[in-house]
Amino acid sequence: MNMNLDNSAPEKVQTDCLVIGITEGGPLSTSAKAIDEVSGGAISRMLDSKDIDTGLGKTVFLHGLPGLVSSRVLVAGFGKQEKLSLARFDRACLAAGKALRDHALGSCHVCVHELEFEETVLERRLRQAALAIHRANYLYTTTKPLKEDSPAPLKAATFQGGTTLQSALDQADALAAGFEKARFLGDLPANICNPAYLAQEAASIAKLYDRVALEILEEDDMAELGMDAFLGVSRGSANNGKLITLKYSGADEDQQPVVFIGKGVTFDSGGLSLKSGENMMQMKYDMCGAAGVIGAFVTCAKLQLPVNLICLVAAVENMPDGDACRPGDVITSMSGKTIEVLNTDAEGRLVLCDSITYSKKFKPDVIIDVATLTGACVIALGHHATGLISNDDDLAEGLLAAGDSVVDRAWRLPLWEEYQSQLDSPFADMKNIGGMPAGVLTAGCFLSRFAEDERWAHLDVAGSAWKWGSNDGASGRPVGLLAQFLLDRSE
Ligand code: BES
Ligand code: MN
Ligand code: ZN
Repeated sequence: MNMNLDNSAPEKVQTDCLVIGITEGGPLSTSAKAIDEVSGGAISRMLDSKDIDTGLGKTVFLHGLPGLVSSRVLVAGFGKQEKLSLARFDRACLAAGKALRDHALGSCHVCVHELEFEETVLERRLRQAALAIHRANYLYTTTKPLKEDSPAPLKAATFQGGTTLQSALDQADALAAGFEKARFLGDLPANICNPAYLAQEAASIAKLYDRVALEILEEDDMAELGMDAFLGVSRGSANNGKLITLKYSGADEDQQPVVFIGKGVTFDSGGLSLKSGENMMQMKYDMCGAAGVIGAFVTCAKLQLPVNLICLVAAVENMPDGDACRPGDVITSMSGKTIEVLNTDAEGRLVLCDSITYSKKFKPDVIIDVATLTGACVIALGHHATGLISNDDDLAEGLLAAGDSVVDRAWRLPLWEEYQSQLDSPFADMKNIGGMPAGVLTAGCFLSRFAEDERWAHLDVAGSAWKWGSNDGASGRPVGLLAQFLLDRSE
């Protein structure tokens, strides 16, 4: 979808649909007022008669208002003025975007960012609105092409405003591209999106953008490095695992890079600790951590941000096989630490621990891993918040703030040493599972042992990166949080 600014009077804009936002108890926005005036008070009459519902997420299409070039106006409800926040604003924009998406419209002209609230600046509201409209317009078509008689996605959106808003719109555009990439990869079935596919995807990104380099470690290379935790997961699969490194150099060589590591388990059967049919159905999504870091990498490369970024993708399939790792096996990770693999379904931490150790060669400023790591995180936080665990308060606060400011929110969970003993093993330095209590935390504890003294954070996106059963599929999260974290460092 093309996104541009247009500073014409809204009533004169040639578009399939004007989009205005209305709050309950707030003043009419500039554009809403203009439309109301040229149409002889049509909007205010409908508000008075309660034919327009101003509730958060409500939408209504108005047709044939006099005085407008556009034949349609979409009126989007933003709820009570005094309750409006960036998060509620985002929800209302997504609802408006869905309404546009579900109608056969080619273009729209959006004015909702004129609504003022809290301390938000116009640039931030425009960016959020543009990102939401773009996200709502997403449609998966790879294995199910669009039918001729169903509404096609929007081709173009313009946003009310002049050139001063251009950089905010550029950010929205780059964020949207990152989200879209992550969603696309997440939604692909595992018979298409396997480790080799992710490697190809990385190669095409390296080709498309400036300042990007690519390196891929094959299983032989990893064996030489002693990455037996990673390889222990990969061993049961006919598809070879790969450790993919995308490197973006946007700053001086001596500036220490940010390292993102994504769990790219393209399918998680559980291995010999086989999942039930019910729990296995969803496991094509187990590479959403990888999709998230790739998406954020795309946003960064598109904006050519002045940062150094390393993006590691641990691409692997977890399958049962005669050669697969057995529960009870003891393996030696790249760090030299030994692990008793009591449950082969706790495989994410095994590929991540070696990736974290490997990442130290880049002399990172910070390491941030992203993973659909635990079902326990879904139980704890549901689908709204990403779980955050970190050994560094500044880093944690930076990530939380970044998430808040783009409405891709995380919630911090404790990394107290009391939880560490749940990983004690009589046969190795540690077990790979910590039992039922606090499963999301013991997974974090496990990873922290490999991060050691590095500034490190872990984002568990098991609940936030996708949603089963709805039509939502992959969400593209936490592309927003990660990209905003990089934007904040670019200032
Ligand atoms: N990929 C799963 C976690 C998951 C579960 C993600 C549900 C999304 C939705 C992970 O590899 C896994 O199987 N974790 C186990 C860990 C357990 C064996 C300690 C889990 O959460 O049950
Ligand atoms: Mn698993
Ligand atoms: Zn998994």
